[in-house]
Amino acid sequence: MDKEIKLNNWLITGGCGFIGKIFIKHLKSINPNFSIRVIDNLKVGTREELSFSGDFEEVSDANNLKWESGITQLIVEDILEYNKLLKITSGADVIIHLAANTGVLPSVEDPKMDFENNVIGTFNLLETCRINKIKKFVMASSGAAAGEVTPPIHEEVCAHPTSPYGASKLVGESYCSAYYNSYGVNTVALRFSNVYGPGSTHKNSIVAKFTKRAINGEVLEIYGDGSQTRDFVYTEDLLNAIYLSAIKDIGGEVFQIASNNETTVLEITDLLVKTLKSKGIENIEVIHGSKNVGEVYRNYADTSKAQKILGWNVKMNLEQGIENTVEWFFSLDSKIV
Ligand SMILES: NC(=O)c1ccc[n+]([C@@H]2O[C@H](COP(=O)([O-])OP(=O)(O)OC[C@H]3O[C@@H](n4cnc5c(N)ncnc54)[C@H](O)[C@@H]3O)[C@@H](O)[C@H]2O)c1
Repeated sequence: MDKEIKLNNWLITGGCGFIGKIFIKHLKSINPNFSIRVIDNLKVGTREELSFSGDFEEVSDANNLKWESGITQLIVEDILEYNKLLKITSGADVIIHLAANTGVLPSVEDPKMDFENNVIGTFNLLETCRINKIKKFVMASSGAAAGEVTPPIHEEVCAHPTSPYGASKLVGESYCSAYYNSYGVNTVALRFSNVYGPGSTHKNSIVAKFTKRAINGEVLEIYGDGSQTRDFVYTEDLLNAIYLSAIKDIGGEVFQIASNNETTVLEITDLLVKTLKSKGIENIEVIHGSKNVGEVYRNYADTSKAQKILGWNVKMNLEQGIENTVEWFFSLDSKIV
């Protein structure tokens, strides 16, 4: 069996966001005594996202921090604040780096904002790993880092990012490689494909957006003819991949984290419409708009490296995953935006 490293103090950047909050739940289910510290500037996530945790506390003084067993601490801070990061990350065994500008479109509209958050932010955190001797750094990259390449995307393909977002994630991966090779920081970059599942309330990716719009009686707009393809990975599968990549004694690695299935935007829309109809949402109107700038046309990934090295496999099939996600949106009581 592969060697595993013992991690107790978990630092999660962007822990109030979609993936952050469900990863924290996942960690607590593995070991309720883990010490968890979150840095989030609350530009997207909210502190209420962490309120599920009975052992939650917000800490305002970064000079007076102590890792506490079984406690989830929130420090409202920006990852661009390097000097504060040095203090906040001190004593961490691992950093799970999720904070980022997360969208292609915002990056096309404001590439400087994307660069600062995704490149400088990642660099700052890698520096804290070097200086504070942190055992492990797991970065959330994206399939967008590979960009417009002939699928299936894999880790050795020559990347051609089509958006500032893809470029900034690729730069983050490059610094991860450099910090492993120059300083021995055990970095892992995970190229998430399109993540969907319960918890995605504020997301604007296709599954969350179309589900919310259909429930609210709004039109679903497909960009272009819908023949573009995506690879959808379910939350539980993703969380498992993040955890495995943290505890495995590996470094300097990149992994595609995806389902290995190519699905057109038309196919996922049909599946969503069918599932929503089965729950009583009738007369869903689907229209076609213009194609998006920076959007990759075909996108699905080969996950054999993650299977081989992490021992990771996708368990959820798309039909069941969509059913669970729609069901979850229905369980929310207030109008969803
Ligand atoms: N959700 C997906 O489908 C998907 C796909 C590929 C990659 N990713 C990557 O996974 C990571 C998490 O994505 P998510 O869907 O949970 O996003 P999210 O937007 O829900 O969460 C990101 C969190 O980071 C915080 N944040 C942003 N910039 C920050 C900064 N400068 N300093 C401190 N906090 C900051 C936000 O307030 C938010 O709570 C991101 O790095 C994203 O690029 C996500």
